[in-house]
Amino acid sequence: MKVTQYFLSLVSAAIVVSASTIAQRQTITLDKRASQDAGAVYFMTNEQDGNYIVVGSLANDGKVTFKQAVATGGRGMHGNSTGADGLYSQNSVLVHHDKALLATVNAGSHTISLFSIDQNDPVNIRLIATSPSGGEFPNSVAFNKDGSQLCALNTGKANGVGCFAITNNGLQPIPNTVRSLNLVQTTPATGAPFTASQLVFSEDETKLAVAVKGNTSDTPGFFAIWDKGSNGLASAFKRIDVPSGGARPFSLTNIPGKNAALVADPQIGFHILNFETGTVQANAINGQMADCWSVRSEKTGRYYLIDAGASIVREVIIDNDLHGSVVQNYPLTNNSGPIDSAVATLNGKDYIYSLAPGTNSIEVLALQGAGLCEQGRRV
Ligand SMILES: *[C@@H]1O[C@H](CO)[C@@H](O)[C@H](O)[C@H]1NC(C)=O
Ligand SMILES: *[C@@H]1O[C@H](CO)[C@@H](O)[C@H](O)[C@H]1NC(C)=O
Ligand SMILES: *[C@@H]1O[C@H](CO)[C@@H](O)[C@H](O)[C@H]1NC(C)=O
Repeated sequence: MKVTQYFLSLVSAAIVVSASTIAQRQTITLDKRASQDAGAVYFMTNEQDGNYIVVGSLANDGKVTFKQAVATGGRGMHGNSTGADGLYSQNSVLVHHDKALLATVNAGSHTISLFSIDQNDPVNIRLIATSPSGGEFPNSVAFNKDGSQLCALNTGKANGVGCFAITNNGLQPIPNTVRSLNLVQTTPATGAPFTASQLVFSEDETKLAVAVKGNTSDTPGFFAIWDKGSNGLASAFKRIDVPSGGARPFSLTNIPGKNAALVADPQIGFHILNFETGTVQANAINGQMADCWSVRSEKTGRYYLIDAGASIVREVIIDNDLHGSVVQNYPLTNNSGPIDSAVATLNGKDYIYSLAPGTNSIEVLALQGAGLCEQGRRV
């Protein structure tokens, strides 16, 4: 029996054209005999007339082969601004590796969908449930560590969070977890300024945190942090303002062992949000244009910021005292405009996959190691 260990997830919020092109090309049915896949990649089409998860298999050298598109049972929707990023978020498609679950949002039907992944052949996914998200225009999801709970972020007219217990038959709303962000928003959401970006459980799982964008450094965004107990979420969130110079916190990538998160902010570069102290440290990056997404590589222990404007992936080291610094820039294809990204480990090596709406493609970056001077390589 083949053991496939690694899956990852991506979303195509916005590349409606490219995503649907890819989806339509996928008339290939799954060929199990040919399946030498080391993992799978997932993204959504976010189409209004029906949302689909597009599944690609990953070979040991990192290459992607598209396999199929699977209906989520809901509809997609784009925020009502133009641009490649239709959901203004990170983690609108998410995998829980150990439980072999995939969750996604259907912004057009205000629902979230949960799939099971075939551990032996991760290009096979099966819809378990599609349930109301607890608000409007859901755009991000988060699993807790053991995969027993799923929370959704909503950034439409009815905005906020809602959490669900994952049971054998699907998603059961958890009492006292539908909480408002009190944003003045619309359905579809009007962004990217003033929309919610992502939600995560803090590393110690005592908090649920949301990043909310402002617009410019004169109108900065904030973090909304709810205390989480056995009876649900505190009724009101604690607000932590984005520090001076920042404006649009866009991602939340947990820093293992630290109870803190790396936050990409296209206004300045990045922040480090410390859940323990309730403080945020801003870090300016010269020449960054749109650092919106962020990922972490288990193999290199490094963090990577995805700059959609400059088409650059930036490698960040975060030290023991939670000081972060950029140590390397990896140029992708010029103007490929990378957005949602994910990391996969294949054959002992990590790869970053980024949806690239500028070139209707997926950019793949092989991470050679944690050495300061080692180069990433495009595959
Ligand atoms: C976005 O949609 C809302 C609700 O339909 C509307 O009120 C708002 O004016 C729209 N904004 C833009 C920029 O189109
Ligand atoms: C955001 O700021 C820019 C630059 O000042 C301005 O042009 C734009 O109208 C602002 N957007 C919103 C939604 O306030
Ligand atoms: C991107 O453009 C710059 C300037 O034209 C050029 O030097 C560089 O080689 C290009 N990079 C790639 C990956 O195409």
